[in-house]
Amino acid sequence: MPVSIAVGAQWGDEGKGKIIDALSENSDFVIRYNGGNNAGNTVINDYGKFPLHLIPSGVFSPNSKACIANGVVIDLEVLSNEIESIEKAGLKLNDKLYISPRCHLILPYHKILDKLYEEAKGRNKTGTTGRGIGPVYADKVSYHGIRIYDLINKNQFSEKLETQLLIKNKIIKALGGKPLNQLDIEKQYFSLREKIIPFVKELFPVFQEAIKNDKNILLVGAHGVFLDNDWGTYPFVTASNIIPGGINAGSGILPQKIKNSIGIVKAYTTRVGAGPFPTELLDSDGERLQKEGDEFGATTGRPRRCGWFDAELVRFAKELNGFTEIALTKLDVLDSFEEIKICTGYTVDEKPANYYDGDAVFLERVKPIYKSITGWMEKTRGIVNYNDLPANAKKYVEEIENIIGVNIKYISTGPERSAMITR
Ligand code: GDP
Ligand code: IMO
Ligand code: MG
Repeated sequence: MPVSIAVGAQWGDEGKGKIIDALSENSDFVIRYNGGNNAGNTVINDYGKFPLHLIPSGVFSPNSKACIANGVVIDLEVLSNEIESIEKAGLKLNDKLYISPRCHLILPYHKILDKLYEEAKGRNKTGTTGRGIGPVYADKVSYHGIRIYDLINKNQFSEKLETQLLIKNKIIKALGGKPLNQLDIEKQYFSLREKIIPFVKELFPVFQEAIKNDKNILLVGAHGVFLDNDWGTYPFVTASNIIPGGINAGSGILPQKIKNSIGIVKAYTTRVGAGPFPTELLDSDGERLQKEGDEFGATTGRPRRCGWFDAELVRFAKELNGFTEIALTKLDVLDSFEEIKICTGYTVDEKPANYYDGDAVFLERVKPIYKSITGWMEKTRGIVNYNDLPANAKKYVEEIENIIGVNIKYISTGPERSAMITR
């Protein structure tokens, strides 16, 4: 399958880092096309444990080039630290990591505005990661952005920065923040510039050549389908498009080239930040999922909200993304539950309802319809053969498979790269 895509099919943190690290073993190119360092993708392999925020998780595969395509927004400091931590672990990134000069830069005022906007929204806040993501994408689409292209030419960067600071400092002051100084930003960004420029490369001809030569390409989405700016639970979403439509814009690769679409799905559901969550558990089962699943954000450390598996969401994500197969993660987290529930659909006012029938306010009102499965009450952690799973665990997997109507090809049974069943 020369061009594949792997995306999270819930609200992020589905275990993409782990699955992509494992799946990219034979990839020639692993490409991120959306989002920024609001992503936190945990990889545990022979090199160590990494919470990757910008570099795609396939970077550790011996033959793969790791590409940050034009749709990604970059915080240079985070990227520079990430490069350093990977190189320190013994992996050289020279001629392995490529960064598009078209990527927009997150500047200090984006992070300040992110926080000030959240404060101003008060109890209606989104619960963002505070990484400046909304403000940087807003600047991109309203022609205020500053890109890596601008940083290549220092004068061009300074001129654009001066204009932006004239505007941004006024907004910052109006919202009660402290204005920023141009020279301080230039000093920091010109120093980071030297570290990043060696990896900058126009990627269009690289990807065209790779497709022509049938290279194995894995496009990896950050976040999850229900955080997609258009199809997620707006306004409780992120600023980028995660779905395949985002790939053409975010990497220059034609969606028609995609032959394989892998949905990465947790065996239950989690969400960080505000917004509707129909299967959320506010009881001891929810606490248990959080504890057993170690559900704390890889980016902000915030506790993740937890609930049962929601098949209505994943079915919708399947249609939107054309999933050809599913990777089901964290099955082992359910090992100690006597009873496990699957949400098979919703009702509103006792009538059947779908995810797409309304907005975030509507979703607050839907009631999940549950199907109960008897738990397996046995350890599955680290199992690599499907037949070694307890009968009730297989039943759970097959039930989900039937309800969503896509093959579950991979089952993850632990955070390490090796803890995976391929069916
Ligand atoms: P991502 O954002 O989708 O890459 O996911 P995160 O890395 O933010 O969160 C997933 C968490 O679950 C990480 O701590 C992983 O190490 C861990 N994890 C991934 N797969 C499994 C699994 O199958 N079982 C268990 N117990 N943990 C897993
Ligand atoms: P990964 O790649 C979970 C959520 C934030 C917030 C909303 C908007 O690790 O799965 P933003 O900072 O993007 O403006 O915040 O989106 N969010 C994520 N939640 N995993 C992520 O990425 C997320 N990226 C953004 O918590 O609710
Ligand atoms: Mg994450």
